Amino acid sequence: MGNGLIVAYCAVLLHVNCISIAVALQALKATGLRTGDPRLKECMETLKETLKKTPDGVTLDRQQFKKCVQSNIVLLTQAFRKKFVIPDFQSFTSHIDELYESAKKLHEGQVADYIPQLAKFSPDLWAVSLCTVDGQRHTAGDTKVPFCLQSCVKPLKYAVAVHDYGTEYVHSFIGKEPSGLRFNKLFLNEDDKPHNPMVNAGAIVCTSLIKQSASNAEKFDYAMTFLKNMAGNEYVGFSNATFQSERESGDRNFAIGYYLKEKKCFPEGTDMTSVLDLYFQLCSIEVTCESGSVMAATLANGGICPITGERVLSPEAVRNTLSLMHSCGMYDFSGQFAFHVGLPAKSGVAGGILLVVPNVMGIMCWSPPLDKLGNSVRGIQFCTDLVELFNFHNYDNLRHFSKKHDPRREGGDQRVKSVINLLFAAYTGDISALRRWGNTPVDEAVHFGHHDVVTILQQYLEKYSLPSGGAAGDDKDSAEKSLDSLL
Ligand code: DON
Repeated sequence: MGNGLIVAYCAVLLHVNCISIAVALQALKATGLRTGDPRLKECMETLKETLKKTPDGVTLDRQQFKKCVQSNIVLLTQAFRKKFVIPDFQSFTSHIDELYESAKKLHEGQVADYIPQLAKFSPDLWAVSLCTVDGQRHTAGDTKVPFCLQSCVKPLKYAVAVHDYGTEYVHSFIGKEPSGLRFNKLFLNEDDKPHNPMVNAGAIVCTSLIKQSASNAEKFDYAMTFLKNMAGNEYVGFSNATFQSERESGDRNFAIGYYLKEKKCFPEGTDMTSVLDLYFQLCSIEVTCESGSVMAATLANGGICPITGERVLSPEAVRNTLSLMHSCGMYDFSGQFAFHVGLPAKSGVAGGILLVVPNVMGIMCWSPPLDKLGNSVRGIQFCTDLVELFNFHNYDNLRHFSKKHDPRREGGDQRVKSVINLLFAAYTGDISALRRWGNTPVDEAVHFGHHDVVTILQQYLEKYSLPSGGAAGDDKDSAEKSLDSLL
């Protein structure tokens, strides 16, 4: 369905008295939103309840429809008024499908076979998922098959370490330079530190920084929770068999571990062998292409998960992570990848490539056959083709590379847009959009120094014994009015 058609559909939907839910959901899907999106929870629950009460279970009248959409009206309005970062999502995704099909034809490369848990994967598996910073989703291929993050977890745990301890502390242990050496080389820089967090030595030291005072079990849970939050609570699992195999076959990593210990690369009191255990465990964390794309989208969105609105990582952690992915994320192909693709990415030995288009979207590609440098053959082809077609390369100049497509919405001040959305949410009583804003009215009044307003709000909260977020308001009348204007 083309752009114009979606608009026409919505216009019909909103001006007739009976609304077919199948048609409404199809129009929603065309915007890139999913019915399972956590931001649409209230709307979908009301819809389910309302449909139970209708005679045919599939059509709603105008009032029923209004009741269903009003609780998430801000997001739905953005979607249908084409305010998302990729306004013509269907046209964009049809290009993505073509790139997917084109890479599918490649049959070169070898599936990693140093452990049976990797060797078992069919070389035909191929999947691409994307999630935009507005939570628009698209998938092609085997996107629901779990695979291990392996080295794709390296940037993520580095982000957690910087989030918790800051840049200065983390980089007092690890460098920031590409090594120019194989990822598992037993080699340190001139200061006897690992070159960067994307090679094994750096990733092992980075692992030792995670939740330092906690027990091994707590450290694992802590990292898992972070990863789940980055993935918007979508699938994040653990392959114990992979962990056991990685540990049994991990002589090189043990050698690196002892060398790091000898050179005093760990924080004081670190138990190197339990750090290696956690390192192997983190490599063995599973995602699907779909959940991996949400992780990448959290990085693309400055650390806020697009589908939950939760801030997971600090802007500092995200900026560092993207910088290092850009310069060191693709093994010995990093320089060429930065040159040709110009986007931060990280590959793993299971065939995953985590790709970030900052401020636009996160992409996860997965296909097990690897090239000689250890990167997924189809994944590399897809990333290269993507920036051939769209002006996503860091140095694509919008004016002078006019032959490339720009699927993004015209710029504008994001801050202004989010304030307008906030005001609209307050006016319509869209509580879930107000919650995603993060601050309460009291927070805002304190922030802008309106002490009299702070006093009034606090008196109000005390009088009605409300928690401090309770002044957000649930004005059904204003929601009605706004809906009327929208309809
Ligand atoms: O540490 C290893 O050897 C592997 N488990 C890491 C896997 C990987 O993706 C290679 N990375 N740089």
